[in-house]
Amino acid sequence: MVEPTTNDYIRMTFRCKMSGIANVKKIGLAMGKMPSEVDQYIKTHRSEFESDLFELLKIPSVSADSNHNDDTADAANWVADQFTTLGFTTEKIETAGHPIVVARSAPVEDSPTVLVYGHYDVQPPDPLDEWTSPPFEPTIRDGNVYARGATDDKGQMLTHIKSAQAWIETCGALPVNLIYLIEGEEEVGSENLDKYIAAQPEKLACDCVVISDTSQHGPGQPAITYGLRGIAYYELRLFGPSQDLHSGTFGGAVTNPANALSGMLAKLIDADGKIQIPEFYDSVIPLTTREREGFQALSSEQRFQDLIGVNDTTGESGFSTLERRCARPSFDINGIWSGYQGEGAKTVLPAKAVAKFSFRLVPDQNPEQITKNLEAFLQSIVPPGIRMELIDFHGAPGVVVPLDSPYIEASARAIEHGFGTAPVYIREGGSIPIVSTFSDKLGVESLLLGWGQNDDNMHSPNEKFHLADFHRGIRTSACLWAEIANIA
Ligand code: BES
Ligand code: MN
Ligand code: MN
Repeated sequence: MVEPTTNDYIRMTFRCKMSGIANVKKIGLAMGKMPSEVDQYIKTHRSEFESDLFELLKIPSVSADSNHNDDTADAANWVADQFTTLGFTTEKIETAGHPIVVARSAPVEDSPTVLVYGHYDVQPPDPLDEWTSPPFEPTIRDGNVYARGATDDKGQMLTHIKSAQAWIETCGALPVNLIYLIEGEEEVGSENLDKYIAAQPEKLACDCVVISDTSQHGPGQPAITYGLRGIAYYELRLFGPSQDLHSGTFGGAVTNPANALSGMLAKLIDADGKIQIPEFYDSVIPLTTREREGFQALSSEQRFQDLIGVNDTTGESGFSTLERRCARPSFDINGIWSGYQGEGAKTVLPAKAVAKFSFRLVPDQNPEQITKNLEAFLQSIVPPGIRMELIDFHGAPGVVVPLDSPYIEASARAIEHGFGTAPVYIREGGSIPIVSTFSDKLGVESLLLGWGQNDDNMHSPNEKFHLADFHRGIRTSACLWAEIANIA
């Protein structure tokens, strides 16, 4: 056990005076443990925390759909109100898109500053008819709350607000300085948040960032995520004849944009799963033997196939399923349309064809460079008789965070306390675009502490969050503030 330093005693005495707790040792801060009062508060306020979560889940804050602009504004206000109730200095920052909420706890001298990032926006809920209960009417089944945003990210984000509430209501103060940065555009690429941070990074100066917007490795297997993939997202539009044509009269003599689109997209990847854009793999950092052994130890091919209902998997040759999902680049068509979509057959040669597609990236691939090379590659293969437009939606690099940090150790101890078992260390395949900005512009690493499960149906119908994970997340978060305060 690490003996507390003099500095610890000064800080603890200060806090205990504020909280009216006379016995410094009783609250156990020196060991990085949270006071039992905080733990007790979390236990007795479970149903209140759940009602608050349900209130937030009822707001359909879909960032991609401008019909929901009033709802994203309502969600921002709801989040801001949580912070004002806690007595935090709270600002709502308007942007060219959806507002950013920034809130600060009362300053605690000589304690670290933690920036908590989360997002109140959600993905569109469609297809609606596949939901068992409506996406914005939170419903409990089998200990899970079902709603869009339950795990991504309203439920996970709220754990860090409720943990602060527990400290403040019991001890009168937090053991660390907290800055909350909660945005409404994560699901559309975080471009306005990126600008906000770049314009005044000093306002967000901190020692580390905490984010709960990832998943556990499995039930009862909490994880610290040390890597995320980046992304580069595009729309390709191909234009052929000036209007739809009879495919009998014209077919065979005119380039069909739908044929051209399928041909061009097919050329982006070969049969071995290698992406064909020139220089695409040049800056990919190879996996070390040690890392590959780690992936091997955590792999469960059968569990993965069962999870998504397939009887086989494919991908880049030479890599395992888990490596392909988390630590290698990938290419996916996200939407594709052209020609006749109605009932029966129609012999048409369509005038245009469109696809949305994206690449997941890994360190050190650069999304801007990939856009340049992709555009040149597509221009070189576009067939005669077709005009092409490429739209670059958003991009973000992949990240890997160092594991040899006292903040990671503090997180591991907090997780062990909150979940009753030590975390495993994983990389995940999803993207949180702003994480690279935190390291580039603020010079700090992010602790990716996910309370979700892989079968929580993020972005899919019937999204859910296990309420037990919600409460374990709150407890872990409360413990984390004590653990971080205790880092010498
Ligand atoms: N919470 C996810 C990111 C995530 C998903 C991390 C799964 C780990 C595992 C986040 O909300 C998300 O969906 N991000 C988008 C980013 C994109 C829209 C720029 C993604 O990954 O598609
Ligand atoms: Mn998310
Ligand atoms: Mn998401």
